[in-house]
Amino acid sequence: MTRAIGDRVVPVGRAAGPGWLLLACLAAASVALLPGVPRLAAGEHGAAEITARSEGVWRVRCGSCHLAFAPELLPRASWMALLAELPAHFGSRVALAHEERVEVGAWLAHNAADVRRSVTGLAVMERMALSDRPLRVTDTRWFRHRHNNIPRATWSSPVVASEANCGACHRDASAGIFDERSVAIPG
Ligand code: HEC
Ligand code: HEC
Repeated sequence: MTRAIGDRVVPVGRAAGPGWLLLACLAAASVALLPGVPRLAAGEHGAAEITARSEGVWRVRCGSCHLAFAPELLPRASWMALLAELPAHFGSRVALAHEERVEVGAWLAHNAADVRRSVTGLAVMERMALSDRPLRVTDTRWFRHRHNNIPRATWSSPVVASEANCGACHRDASAGIFDERSVAIPG
């Protein structure tokens, strides 16, 4: 079964299988079918509620320069710190309208590694000290651990250029799919 980065942990006592997939699809569909119905996500910085638009705003506004990094890759405090520093975002200036920032904040806060029980989120948190709030996915101990077999020369090759260039090796990264079958190290 292909697993996407936001997939939730299978509840105890339920085997991963078509039944679970169906449930996941139904859950996703029920959210999609309720446009405008706010789902509460207690948050800082005005990231109070998540609307049907939130994911789309995040995908467009946070996916134009690089892959839109999935919320499950960092804890909520990291996302809030990143959003607070957008005018000085890794040497770039990211300008978001207030409303867009609220939508993006809600999406990230609601689905963050330490908020949503996703397989990836739990794996990320398992290796993180509670006080940590890394600003880079590539600085997390989880990332280092999952990628520790990759030679240094690969990271610095011109095709990869940056560790954050997930799509250089994960060809389905933009769909949130990072499993072993879809990885190919360039070169
Ligand atoms: C104007 C271009 C631009 C936009 C828009 C943008 N970023 Fe970035 N972002 C960058 C650059 C440049 C880097 C550094 C990339 C590198 O080191 O290879 C970066 C890096 C990151 C990283 C760290 C990646 C890593 O693990 O090394 C995160 C997380 C991130 N951005 C989140 C966001 C979020 C959330 C948004 C939307 C609010 C966003 N970005 C929008 C330019 C942008
Ligand atoms: C230089 C190539 C390369 C880059 C760049 C890269 N990865 Fe990977 N990644 C791999 C390889 C190879 C594996 C498989 C490691 C293993 O299981 O032995 C992997 C494993 C993973 C896994 C675990 C997959 C699973 O099913 O367990 C995730 C999630 C992941 N990468 C996410 C990312 C993200 C997010 C980025 C960008 C911030 C990224 N990777 C950048 C090569 C890369």
